[in-house]
Amino acid sequence: MRELKILAVIVVFTLITYYLVEPFAHSQMHKHVEGEGFAYSDLPALTKTGDALKGKELVMGAAACTGCHAITKEGIVAGMDPAMAAQSYGVNPPDLSNAGVVYDAKFLAALIKNPAHALKVEHKFDAAKGKMHPMPQFYGAGGDIDQEIADIVAYLQSIAPKAEELTSEQAYKLACGGCHENRYAGWTQVGQTPKFKKKQDELKFNLAKADYQDALTKYMGKLPPDLSIYIRSRGEHYIKTFVEDPQAYLAGTAMPRVGVSTAGMEKVIEYLEDSGDAKRHERESIGPKVMLFTLVFALFAFLWKKELWSKLH
Ligand code: HEC
Ligand code: HEC
Repeated sequence: MRELKILAVIVVFTLITYYLVEPFAHSQMHKHVEGEGFAYSDLPALTKTGDALKGKELVMGAAACTGCHAITKEGIVAGMDPAMAAQSYGVNPPDLSNAGVVYDAKFLAALIKNPAHALKVEHKFDAAKGKMHPMPQFYGAGGDIDQEIADIVAYLQSIAPKAEELTSEQAYKLACGGCHENRYAGWTQVGQTPKFKKKQDELKFNLAKADYQDALTKYMGKLPPDLSIYIRSRGEHYIKTFVEDPQAYLAGTAMPRVGVSTAGMEKVIEYLEDSGDAKRHERESIGPKVMLFTLVFALFAFLWKKELWSKLH
């Protein structure tokens, strides 16, 4: 009986700490943002159905997207290496091969029409004051601009892999990799760190990385942090809601609203989990085994105790 009472007291205090004290302390120390599941409800809904073929013509022609962006899937390579591109634009304009699946369609349309608005960096870039965003606005190619933008989005979607086929690396590289290094995964802003055969190659690579990071720091005001273990220090909810709307946490921050789709974000989280917590699958599979062991052990201990006491009576 006494054991049961002690157990009950322990259980009650544990529950109080878990459900009341901890969440309260947490809410005092961290701002909580609920998020809206990447709905981007401030951006206008898409009203037109796009034509991918017409979109392709615009992307390569009047809209000049390929003047800055590679689309390697279509055989269009970058005009500059990442470090040089960063000198010109502050950041390397990303390869658009997977943009149609990593980014939300509504966000893409808004981005093409007005990058600073869609990215929520109008506090930094204001065309009226002569502070242009490095990605220019698309003013239309002479037809119905909303139709033309829908065509461009349809084209980007038509060349992108399906959500199930998108890899976590593709998603991270496109959505975050131009700004955030991930040392545990070997990722740098100028690409995946290769296995160097010669010291010179390593020096060249590190020089390009340093040049890139200098330009990026100038553009952003600070070097975006390495994301290797952010998933463990901040957790999934924080990272998701922060990416969905960085301004909601850090008003005036230079990190743009990236505009990822739900599928794109799932893949980014997977990448961060693999880099920050590489042993998690192993650990998760060990959990049930430990529980089973503990149960069996407790059973034997109980039986043993009964046996001992039975001899004393
Ligand atoms: C003059 C160069 C230039 C042109 C032309 C251009 N872009 Fe960009 N684009 C950029 C730069 C620079 C960035 C990165 C901006 C940043 O992250 O601050 C970017 C970013 C993007 C992104 C990623 C946005 C995000 O959320 O991170 C997409 C998608 C994109 N551009 C699509 C397009 C499309 C589609 C076109 C043609 C309609 C186009 N761009 C034309 C320079 C350009
Ligand atoms: C155009 C550059 C850019 C891109 C793209 C970008 N970030 Fe950032 N990020 C920044 C900058 C700059 C900061 C620093 C913000 C600050 O301290 O004001 C930052 C900060 C962060 C932080 C730290 C927030 C904190 O509480 O300190 C996280 C987490 C983060 N980014 C995640 C991501 C993820 C995940 C992606 C991809 C989905 C991404 N970022 C894409 C520029 C970028």
